[in-house]
Amino acid sequence: MRSFPAAVAALSALAFTPYANALYYIDDQDPIITYNSSAGVGYNSKWLKYSFENSNGLAVSVNESLCFGGTATYTQCLTADNCSMTIPFNGTGITLYVAQDTGDIYNTSISLDGGPPTNHFAYNDIKPQTEAYNATLYDIQNLTWTTHTVHVEIAPDGKRLLFDYAVVTGDPPLGRNGANKAAAFSISTSPSIVASTLFLLAAIQTLS
Ligand SMILES: *[C@@H]1O[C@H](CO)[C@@H](O)[C@H](O)[C@H]1NC(C)=O
Ligand SMILES: *[C@@H]1O[C@H](CO)[C@@H](O)[C@H](O)[C@H]1NC(C)=O
Ligand SMILES: *[C@@H]1O[C@H](CO)[C@@H](O)[C@H](O)[C@H]1NC(C)=O
Ligand SMILES: *[C@@H]1O[C@H](CO)[C@@H](O)[C@H](O)[C@H]1NC(C)=O
Ligand SMILES: *[C@@H]1O[C@H](CO)[C@@H](O)[C@H](O)[C@H]1NC(C)=O
Ligand SMILES: *[C@@H]1O[C@H](CO)[C@@H](O)[C@H](O)[C@H]1NC(C)=O
Ligand SMILES: *[C@@H]1O[C@H](CO)[C@@H](O)[C@H](O)[C@H]1NC(C)=O
Repeated sequence: MRSFPAAVAALSALAFTPYANALYYIDDQDPIITYNSSAGVGYNSKWLKYSFENSNGLAVSVNESLCFGGTATYTQCLTADNCSMTIPFNGTGITLYVAQDTGDIYNTSISLDGGPPTNHFAYNDIKPQTEAYNATLYDIQNLTWTTHTVHVEIAPDGKRLLFDYAVVTGDPPLGRNGANKAAAFSISTSPSIVASTLFLLAAIQTLS
């Protein structure tokens, strides 16, 4: 029992650690993302999981093993296809990253929380001519900490997009409710924290 408070203190410290540097990744394969088009919701003829092998008929060619998580999601759309991607997140900011082949221009219309859409494009003009990874398509910070939704549409004169991942930032508000929500949220989204928590819980059980 002597070590019980120490274990609890360690667990509390662990639970509070993520507040200082809250940040998590949403890979293109995360089921929280809704890919949609006139052909339907999810992967279909308008959206597909990218791979170098299936890139022959596509307008971009990158090496997906250099993408975050080794995957990326591709679309090649006409205006009438109404291709879109919707990502909900908890935080105060989000950055969307894309991968691009030489000379690629991705032109999109992006709205936050149902607000007015704004034009965002990413152009790979890297010289010498090489593929670009971790290229920023959209970045917004300093929002109120809550659940937000970012909605990406291929702009009328845009045609394609190779989405790699998103990085969500944000310290949850102080206070019991915010802290509790944040702890549950951080623990559920970080495998290493889940592992350490299970280890600490096991230690507490052993000690008591
Ligand atoms: C998917 O896109 C179609 C075509 O724009 C639209 O009618 C439908 O409401 C969208 N569904 C979802 C779940 O976003
Ligand atoms: C993709 O990158 C990986 C890791 O650098 C490399 O092993 C592989 O050969 C590359 N594939 C192609 C098609 O260039
Ligand atoms: C892209 O950024 C991620 C996260 O910072 C990093 O792990 C990865 O190595 C970067 N990829 C390339 C190709 O630079
Ligand atoms: C697709 O987008 C066009 C242009 O924004 C719009 O006029 C049309 O109603 C949309 N179609 C569907 C099915 O949502
Ligand atoms: C936001 O956090 C709440 C509370 O932990 C959780 O239920 C919800 O699924 C999270 N939403 C997203 C988009 O991650
Ligand atoms: C957020 O707001 C603070 C203070 O208003 C400012 O100093 C900071 O540069 C902003 N950060 C971003 C990423 O916009
Ligand atoms: C992107 O699309 C918008 C709307 O169609 C257009 O006004 C803008 O010029 C395009 N931007 C680029 C860089 O092509």
